[in-house]
Amino acid sequence: MTFRPERSLTILGIPGSLRHGSFNRALLEAGEELTPPGTTLTVYDHLEEVPLFNQDFEDVAPGGVTRLRNAIRQADALLIATPEYNQSVPGVLKNAIDWLSRSDPTDGIAGKPVAVIGATTGPWGTRLAQTQLRHILVSCQALVLSNPTLYVRNARTVFDQSGLLIDEETKSLLRNVVRALADWTRLMSPSAQIEVPTRTD
Ligand SMILES: Cc1cc2nc3c(=O)[nH]c(=O)nc-3n(C[C@H](O)[C@H](O)[C@H](O)COP(=O)(O)O)c2cc1C
Repeated sequence: MTFRPERSLTILGIPGSLRHGSFNRALLEAGEELTPPGTTLTVYDHLEEVPLFNQDFEDVAPGGVTRLRNAIRQADALLIATPEYNQSVPGVLKNAIDWLSRSDPTDGIAGKPVAVIGATTGPWGTRLAQTQLRHILVSCQALVLSNPTLYVRNARTVFDQSGLLIDEETKSLLRNVVRALADWTRLMSPSAQIEVPTRTD
């Protein structure tokens, strides 16, 4: 996969919350309007179709997993917005990553450029969840963008009642992350073709 300068990039936004009215999904939806020229961001809204991981079925993936893998294969990069649950990554997100980590290296997250952001109603901005999520993604051989970061705290003051992002500073930071992810994806595209070693565990 080599990018010509004129080739447009597609980013898949994955919210780590199934909640109706999720601030993390709202954050990604705001990002759809903040992409640089030549880049589109679309939000994946079917994570609830991914069943609990069972290694007995890893070679015959359920439909919800296949749908997610297909969406990831078609995307050039991922932008994951995670809540923080009990100072860690939500189970639905970890569960999905466990499925993806065991798929064919060409349709999982190995070699895929990924940025992590997150929103919480609390005061610490999902720092612990994001740190742990980056660690998980690195262990899966994703190409994780380390900077810039976006830790959205006190989410109820950053979004309006309808879930619209109304805080200008957060918008600006989100725009920076999306732009950096697009740049990172173009930079990393040659190494995205690295041969991923077969897992032995
Ligand atoms: C089970 C549970 C545990 C939580 N633990 C934390 C936490 O450790 N740190 C934090 O900042 N927020 C915590 N929260 C608050 C969530 O970050 C907040 O509800 C957030 O809005 C969830 O994301 P969403 O709006 O995308 O659904 C917790 C919420 C739940 C339901």
